[in-house]
Amino acid sequence: MLIAVISNRNKTGKTTVVSCLGHALANRKLPNKTYEPLAYDGDFSSQLRKWFKAAKTDEDFSEFPFDVRLAATTQFEDILEEHPHEGKVGLVDTAHLEDSRGYAEAVMEHADAVILMTEPNLNELERLEALPLADAMAKVDANRAAAGRPPIRRLVMFFRVPTSANAQDVKTTREYITDAANAEEWGGWHVLTTKMTENRKLARLSETNPPSLDAMKSSGMDQLVTELENLGVLV
Ligand SMILES: Nc1ncnc2c1ncn2[C@@H]1O[C@H](COP(=O)(O)OP(=O)(O)O)[C@@H](O)[C@H]1O
Ligand SMILES: [Mg+2]
Repeated sequence: MLIAVISNRNKTGKTTVVSCLGHALANRKLPNKTYEPLAYDGDFSSQLRKWFKAAKTDEDFSEFPFDVRLAATTQFEDILEEHPHEGKVGLVDTAHLEDSRGYAEAVMEHADAVILMTEPNLNELERLEALPLADAMAKVDANRAAAGRPPIRRLVMFFRVPTSANAQDVKTTREYITDAANAEEWGGWHVLTTKMTENRKLARLSETNPPSLDAMKSSGMDQLVTELENLGVLV
């Protein structure tokens, strides 16, 4: 199982989500299910890998409970061959689409599901359409079909959602994505109920130090694990 976390630009919570989701997966205990996460740092900043290394050298974070492999190369297939993730849940912190579209497409050719991070507003959707996102996904679909793979599951998660104010933005953005009139751009994308809500504990994270375990627990990503199970993405 491989999940690509993508976005059109920086600062949309990709690294935070991969880190928090990895922890949530690793902390799932029977009788529900146990998972073995493995993260691929597919961003040229190597921020996730820096967090991982800091965690390993700081006893406060010694529980960073999964491996983080450097994977920011267009030869993404080679990385997968070197570090197979059979039986594990691979999570890719993917370099963003506006700078590294080819790389993101290469990752999506191999992933089972993609989580597209975006702030919930129509300006961000316009930026995604201008990429254009639909072209990137058509290319991914074509290459997957040629390789005999099923289409990638397409999920959208809203980032930095204010807890109370502006709930209307979430509704408007969700409706835009699911509106049949916008199917050419957004057909096949499913908006997750789980959101990354605005969270002071996760704001202004250090480039070199991972978020605290307490902050990661408060991220709501345990709920994402449940939602991915319910959607049949995690089996
Ligand atoms: N739930 C949240 N609430 C508020 N700020 C957040 C939240 N999650 C992450 N952030 C902040 O948003 C910024 C971007 O997050 P990051 O995960 O580094 O994004 P990306 O990897 O897409 O560049 C960081 O400064 C981080 O501290
Ligand atoms: Mg990042």
